[in-house]
Amino acid sequence: MLKVEFESSLNAAMAEAKRWLAALDQRPVRPQASTKEMLKAFDEELPAKGEPPDLVVSMLAERAGPGLMATGSGRFHGWVIGGALPASVGADWVVSAWDQNAGMADISPAAAAIEQVTARWVVELLGLPATCSVGFVTGGQMANTVCLAAARNYVLEANGWDVELDGLVGAPPVTVVVGEERHSAIDRGLRLLGLGSRSVRVVEVDNAGRILPGALEAVLATISGPTIVCAQAGNVNGGAVDRFGYIRDVIDGRNAGDIWMHVDGAFGLWVRAEPSRRHLLDDVERADSWATDAHKWLNTPYDCGMAICARPESQRRAMGVRVAYLPSGDDEEVRDPVDFNPEFSRRARAVPVWAGLRQLGVDGLARVVDRCCAMAERYADALGSASGVEVMHQELNQVVVRFLGASGETDEEHTRQVVSKVQDHGTCYPSSTVWHNTAAMRISVCNWRTDEEDVDRSVASILAAHSGY
Ligand SMILES: Cc1ncc(COP(=O)(O)O)c(C=O)c1O
Repeated sequence: MLKVEFESSLNAAMAEAKRWLAALDQRPVRPQASTKEMLKAFDEELPAKGEPPDLVVSMLAERAGPGLMATGSGRFHGWVIGGALPASVGADWVVSAWDQNAGMADISPAAAAIEQVTARWVVELLGLPATCSVGFVTGGQMANTVCLAAARNYVLEANGWDVELDGLVGAPPVTVVVGEERHSAIDRGLRLLGLGSRSVRVVEVDNAGRILPGALEAVLATISGPTIVCAQAGNVNGGAVDRFGYIRDVIDGRNAGDIWMHVDGAFGLWVRAEPSRRHLLDDVERADSWATDAHKWLNTPYDCGMAICARPESQRRAMGVRVAYLPSGDDEEVRDPVDFNPEFSRRARAVPVWAGLRQLGVDGLARVVDRCCAMAERYADALGSASGVEVMHQELNQVVVRFLGASGETDEEHTRQVVSKVQDHGTCYPSSTVWHNTAAMRISVCNWRTDEEDVDRSVASILAAHSGY
């Protein structure tokens, strides 16, 4: 009986998943139904009697279909969202079927071992210190939060305060130095960690969003005591990368021993895996922690982020758990996932990362990163050479453009209209933003499938919207 149930629901899932993936290139990229329409489709009383599993899966796919965004399309360029590699999608299905609790090595030796090996691969690919610890978490938000928790532990300990034992009440104040253009995940992470918004000191950035040389010294000169400096590899709009060598040198020059350097590299850190662009992130390995995502540029299905620390003991002290009913975690060779992330029970989310990396190999990953950057450059070249289009910034896989009025004047309404017309049209899906206080379109190329044809079709659609369909 059970066997039959699984077979029918998995067969239904396979049919629906194949249908969805096969249609990605043909269907409009945008959803065809609004959230309100989706609420109408789903908002009903829970049936009193159970339903056959295969019908549940088919009904789910049929109803949800119109409300899904084709984020897996090579022409989806909204926010910073990757697609999903075939091996990682397949592995993700298997993870669900296995239904492992990947919290502790004793519960699932396979999940723990795969996570440990994947962590090593990631650290090697990113060229970070081999001794780094890695926590697999839900995404960039939690990766930043875990790194900042480790940082909080370290900088307070350097000031004689054990935050894990004594909490924050009465602790020396921690100052967090951030660039004006940091991602809001940093601020939210700090709030979750009890380091309120008033602990933040904002450093001026250049036009691209990079911390300005000279600005960090000026701010640090006014600060003493426990300090965390947050840099960025990949601005969420324009892709800008901070000058890591400069930031590290300024920190080292202060010789304070209680300053931690953190890098939010949710997507940009993966440029380290592409030899011809690796130099763009020179010195990033000199930081104390790095947050990155697998579900963006590494193209694993949602969700997976990674919190990487050059000081494993700080990450472990911030996250680790030791209670009588759990194993001791004393085996040096075996890493217990629970010690590096804030969860107990959790999905084996490193498994799709392992599978995606195996599918690509070192070369394949470099090609994905290279192609995404090359396709972003292609967008910038094609749009920038059209009349009335201004490429405001292009770096790594990101492009920021705006659309001018008939006489070449700033026309924010026109820019907003172009974005929304393009989205409605459905050929591609850029998103909107505000860049340097002006409305802009942002194009993020994160998908392993995006090719020249996708870019050319999308450019044609964008230019048609600009000139009025
Ligand atoms: C630079 C940066 N940091 C953090 C985040 C948050 O990551 P996530 O959405 O995976 O939590 C993003 C998301 O786009 C990002 O671009």
